[in-house]
Amino acid sequence: MKQVFVMGSGVMGRGIAQVAATSGYEVTLYDVSQTALKSALDTIGWSLGKLKEKGKIQEEPEKIQARISTVTELTDVEKAEIVIEAIPENRALKEKLFQELDQRCGEHTLLASNTSAIPITELACATKRREKVVGLHFFNPVPMMNMVEIVRGQDTSDETIETAKSFVTSLGKKYCLVQRDVAGFVMNRIGICSSIEAIRILEEGVATVEEIDQGMRMAYGWSMGPLETFDLSGLDVALNAALAIYEETQDPKFLPPVTLRRLVASGNLGRKTGKGFYDYTLKK
Ligand SMILES: NC(=O)c1ccc[n+]([C@@H]2O[C@H](COP(=O)([O-])OP(=O)(O)OC[C@H]3O[C@@H](n4cnc5c(N)ncnc54)[C@H](O)[C@@H]3O)[C@@H](O)[C@H]2O)c1
Repeated sequence: MKQVFVMGSGVMGRGIAQVAATSGYEVTLYDVSQTALKSALDTIGWSLGKLKEKGKIQEEPEKIQARISTVTELTDVEKAEIVIEAIPENRALKEKLFQELDQRCGEHTLLASNTSAIPITELACATKRREKVVGLHFFNPVPMMNMVEIVRGQDTSDETIETAKSFVTSLGKKYCLVQRDVAGFVMNRIGICSSIEAIRILEEGVATVEEIDQGMRMAYGWSMGPLETFDLSGLDVALNAALAIYEETQDPKFLPPVTLRRLVASGNLGRKTGKGFYDYTLKK
C-alpha cells in the first residue's frame, strides 16, 4: 500500500495525513474548504518541526510534507489503496460521501472511517463493497496518541481486517480490534460516559471544572481530565458522538447534558474556538 487519501483536513484528518506521510505514504488530503487545507498544512509543518527538534523523527520535515498534496475535488481518489474519512460527525453527510467514494474508487480500495460513534455497518451499507469498509478510529492528537481502534462492521472481511492491522502497525501505532460494531466502540463508550458524568457533577455545583480535571489527573493518573479532554476533542464532536451512542443504546447515561448543548449552540467548541469549559484566550 502506497497511496492514502484522507477526507477532511480538520483536527483529525490533518493528523492522520501527517502520520501517514511520516511513515512514507503518498497522501492526498481533501477538504471542501481551502482555508482548512491551508491551516492543515501550517499545523503539519509546525508539528513536524517540533518532532524533529525533539529527535522523534529522523527525516527532514520538508521531505515528509512534500508527500502530502491537497485537493478540493475528489481528484485522483481512484488511485488510492485506502481512503480514510474524517469529515464532521454527521451520519447523512458521511453516508453521502461513502456512496460517492464507492462509485469513484477502484474496486480494491478500502474505505475507512474515523467516526467516533456512528456504526461502521451503517456507512458500509451506503456502498456496494461492505466487506471493504472498516473503522479506523484514531485519537487526538493523532501524531502523539499511539492507539487506533480497528472496527469490524457486520460484513467487514477478515482480509480487510488484516490489511487494516498491517496499515495501523506500519504507522507505528498499536490497535484494539473492536469485534462488534457498537456505537462508540470501546474507548468512547468509556471516555464519553466519564466526561458526561463530569459535566453533571459540574452542573450540580459539586466541584469546579479545574478541581474535577485535576482530581482525575492526580487521583486516577489520567494525563488529562474529562472536561479538558472534551475541550480538546471539540465539544461539537463530543456532542454528536454522545448523541450517536444515545440513539443506539437509549441509555440515559449518554444523554448530553444541557451545559454541553448550550456551549455548542453558542459556538464555544473548546480549544479550536478558544473557549469551552476553559477559556484558552486567557492562557497565552
Ligand atoms: N476531534 C477528536 O478528538 C476526534 C477523535 C476521534 C475521532 N473523531 C472523528 O473524526 C471526524 C472528524 O473530526 P474532526 O475533529 O477532525 O472534525 P473537524 O471539524 O475539525 O474537521 C472536519 C473537516 O471536514 C471538512 N469537511 C466538511 N464537510 C466535508 C465534506 N463533505 N468533504 C470533505 N471535507 C469536509 C471541514 O471543512 C473540516 O475541515 C469525526 O467523525 C469525529 O467524530 C474526532
